Amino acid sequence: MTLILGIETSCDETAAAVVRDGRDVLSNVILTQHELHERYGGVVPEIASRAHLEKLIPTVEQAVSVAGISIKEIDAIAVGNRPGLVGSLLVGVSAAKALAWSLQRPLIGIDHVLAHLYAAELSPPEPAHRIAFPALGLVVSGGHTTLYRMESPTQITPLGRTIDDAVGEAYDKAAVILGLGYPGGPNVDRLAQRGNPAGIELPKSLLGKESLDFTFSGLKTALLYSVRGFPKGRGEQATFERSVADLSDDRRADLAAAFQQTAMQTIMTKIDRATAFMIGQDSAPKSLVLGGGVCANSLLRRLVTEWGTRRGLPVCLPAMPYCLDNAAMIAGLAHHYFQQHQISDLHLPVIATTGA
Ligand code: KG4
Ligand code: ZN
Repeated sequence: MTLILGIETSCDETAAAVVRDGRDVLSNVILTQHELHERYGGVVPEIASRAHLEKLIPTVEQAVSVAGISIKEIDAIAVGNRPGLVGSLLVGVSAAKALAWSLQRPLIGIDHVLAHLYAAELSPPEPAHRIAFPALGLVVSGGHTTLYRMESPTQITPLGRTIDDAVGEAYDKAAVILGLGYPGGPNVDRLAQRGNPAGIELPKSLLGKESLDFTFSGLKTALLYSVRGFPKGRGEQATFERSVADLSDDRRADLAAAFQQTAMQTIMTKIDRATAFMIGQDSAPKSLVLGGGVCANSLLRRLVTEWGTRRGLPVCLPAMPYCLDNAAMIAGLAHHYFQQHQISDLHLPVIATTGA
């Protein structure tokens, strides 16, 4: 049996978790900083790192105590060390190094994005939804929209990614355009559920016939023009025909629904293309694995579940608490590196961008 303590501080969630044997989540503590960043409409890096500094030690203490263990029973300390806000990552990585050194336990640096792809393996998924390899992976988060071929939890190759905004970022910007608060994704999702997208045409940009890359900036601009009319003038000087406050609630809901439908249909088209690509490479996917905050989206969950039924393939969706940033996914994935003796040393760096 292995017990791994995971630490996650890459953005605006301070999180710690204890996971047994890579799957059983004994504790999953997440302290969100949303209220600190809300009035700025996005994450302010300096505020985020200071809040991590204040909250991390109590969060780790709580994770150990909820797990009902003593910290001495931990076999390894795992920490998300890439990608993310450098000041925020530094807080988690420094704490993890100090714990690893003082407890004399191995330190394991984890790629946050690959950890999102592991989240579906954490308890409690149903046995039918365990990842079968090779798998087609898709991370949809605030920073990433990337398709992967997965040979195992640790052997993962990117197939295509966004060339501009991540889908979560597009949702956050759509929320601002629609006059909704931060974080935008859940608010747009909620509004979209009572709207009707029929009759509203927003562009579905697919970047050519075979591309596995994504683009969402055109969709975001099209939504802006649908809400406010075409601009007169350019840049900061641009003026619009109307403001979002001039729209009825029903119209706003219809526009949110059209945005949501277009974004998710684009993603489904890319999933189809990536499946065809893998079949063409003689490695037909045996499951579809999703991870990242946008996996919480109601329409995406429905569309991929229907896709799995049509194709007869298991669709591995993380349970809700493991969609958004959390440390259980860090500790869970670390189990596999631990088993393979892939251990970091106390020089483990923080890296703003992902290697995968
Ligand atoms: O994975 P995550 O917690 O952080 C990153 O690693 O980026 O994802 C956060 C993103 C945000 O952009 C948020 O707006 C989006 O996930 N999100 C959603 C929903 N819930 C969260 N987007 C669409 N629909 C949702 N229900
Ligand atoms: Zn994330």
